[in-house]
Amino acid sequence: MAKPTIVNRMRVLILAAHPRTVQSIAQRAMSRALEGIAGVTLRDLYALYPDFNIHAETEQEILLAHDLIVLQHPFYWYSAPAIIKEWLDIVLEAGWAYGAGGTMLAGKYLMTAISTGGRADFYHAKGRNRFTIEDLLAPFNQTAHLCGMAYLAPFVVYAARKQSAGDLATAAESYRQLIEGFARGKIDPTEHLAAGYHLPDGFKRRHAL
Ligand SMILES: Cc1cc2nc3c(=O)[nH]c(=O)nc-3n(C[C@H](O)[C@H](O)[C@H](O)COP(=O)(O)O)c2cc1C
Repeated sequence: MAKPTIVNRMRVLILAAHPRTVQSIAQRAMSRALEGIAGVTLRDLYALYPDFNIHAETEQEILLAHDLIVLQHPFYWYSAPAIIKEWLDIVLEAGWAYGAGGTMLAGKYLMTAISTGGRADFYHAKGRNRFTIEDLLAPFNQTAHLCGMAYLAPFVVYAARKQSAGDLATAAESYRQLIEGFARGKIDPTEHLAAGYHLPDGFKRRHAL
């Protein structure tokens, strides 16, 4: 008989970033799919900080109240829209998130949830975009590691705007099931680590592993 896994409920913070929400199709579908899930907080960074004046203390307090942080955004120039970078620069302070005494995020989880314009087969060493999505997301993977966090496999909706309404709805539903599974403690996040990811010492210490 399979051993039952004991998984804890997680408080999930979705940091959603789309500079033109009015024109969004894919990201909007993803955000809508999460509506009404208990334990999930969605913050629209461009709506909260239209002038990029990100308030570090507020964001840090919110981070402390959550276990899983999801960066949800369209894939822009093989990375994230600018406000995600600004958020990282301003919020993940030395002595708080990393460096001497910077252990406030240790033991938490980080995940990226993106939509792309390019098809899945473009993201391959021999494909049009030459690199895999995992290669291109390496800075987020390493940021998580530096902060003592577990970095989960990214959730990706490829060729998002070329999908039929039905296929996009199916992708959004898969996203909902994943996030709801984490929030309800039905999915073990340590089973969803990014390929080849080794848990940092800070994470192991926090969980007494
Ligand atoms: C400024 C900009 C940069 C983009 N860069 C990429 C990219 O590097 N790779 C890619 O696959 N798609 C790229 N795209 C396409 C978007 O990722 C895609 O249209 C978006 O994820 C669809 O979601 P939405 O309907 O919510 O906008 C880019 C789009 C824009 C506007």
